[in-house]
Amino acid sequence: MRKIRKAVFPIGGLGTRFLPATKSMPKEMLPVVDRPLIQYAVDEAREAGIEQFIFVTSRGKSLIEDHFDHAFELEEAMARRGKSLAALDGTRPSPGDIAIVRQQEPLGLGHAVWCARRLIGDEPFAVLLPDDLMVGEPGCLKQMVDAYEELGGNLICTEEVAASDTHKYGIVTPGAQAGAITEVKGLVEKPAPDVAPSRLAVIGRYILQPEVMNVLGSQEEGAGGEIQLTDALARMIGQQPFHGVTFAGKRYDCGDKGGFVTATLALALDRPDIAPAVRAFLAAA
Ligand code: UTP
Repeated sequence: MRKIRKAVFPIGGLGTRFLPATKSMPKEMLPVVDRPLIQYAVDEAREAGIEQFIFVTSRGKSLIEDHFDHAFELEEAMARRGKSLAALDGTRPSPGDIAIVRQQEPLGLGHAVWCARRLIGDEPFAVLLPDDLMVGEPGCLKQMVDAYEELGGNLICTEEVAASDTHKYGIVTPGAQAGAITEVKGLVEKPAPDVAPSRLAVIGRYILQPEVMNVLGSQEEGAGGEIQLTDALARMIGQQPFHGVTFAGKRYDCGDKGGFVTATLALALDRPDIAPAVRAFLAAA
């Protein structure tokens, strides 16, 4: 079985739910405590053994490129003042580890993944949506890579959601279940609660076989006039093994303002340097 070496980060979206903050700054650069969202996802991928990080970006996302570059003046000034560069750990990958592809139009998540097809070639790969901030040990993608080594095929990350929330997610028609693993028999994009086949939702981590690129390439627009990744995955069920992995850890939906603020609070409360101040504020609130 081929090792998962490449990861695609689809970050071409407009981030309209965070306007005006995202008018001139990418959503993925919003910090949770002191790290931008994109860096949590990159760190998680690196822990899972990813060697090549492919960002599918759009206009106005160049700050993300700068974040993962050497900042000569800053580093030199910090060194001169005797300051440790540890705070920059994880932001200075080796030359060539990060590749950038432009998605010229925001035609949907499936289209963004397809934009990376030439860099993916014929090997299986991971997809990480930085909006979903995953906190756990080992990290979410590492848990999925471990499952992949047993199961092969395609894997999606799944989470049980409230019935009232099925219309926000791709929902799984489940087959056999064993521990964290669920066989995927079908996928429905954003079903209303009364027609949803389960409450098992697809969340922002995937391990996919390269054939998905051909499926995406031949695909019509789906819900919202966008090329939907879920629709392409649904077409692959039955042709290749397909499983869901329920993440043992906590997910924060940082694409949503409430989820973003919750993540900020949760991660701050986990940090010995700032937790006392935050806890004191919450106690008094
Ligand atoms: P979202 O549905 O959260 O859309 O995309 P968005 O544009 O980022 O944010 P809102 O809803 O306007 O606030 C889910 C993921 O798919 C990526 C996004 O960047 C995000 O990581 N995406 C979406 C693309 O890369 N390209 C697209 O055309 C659409």
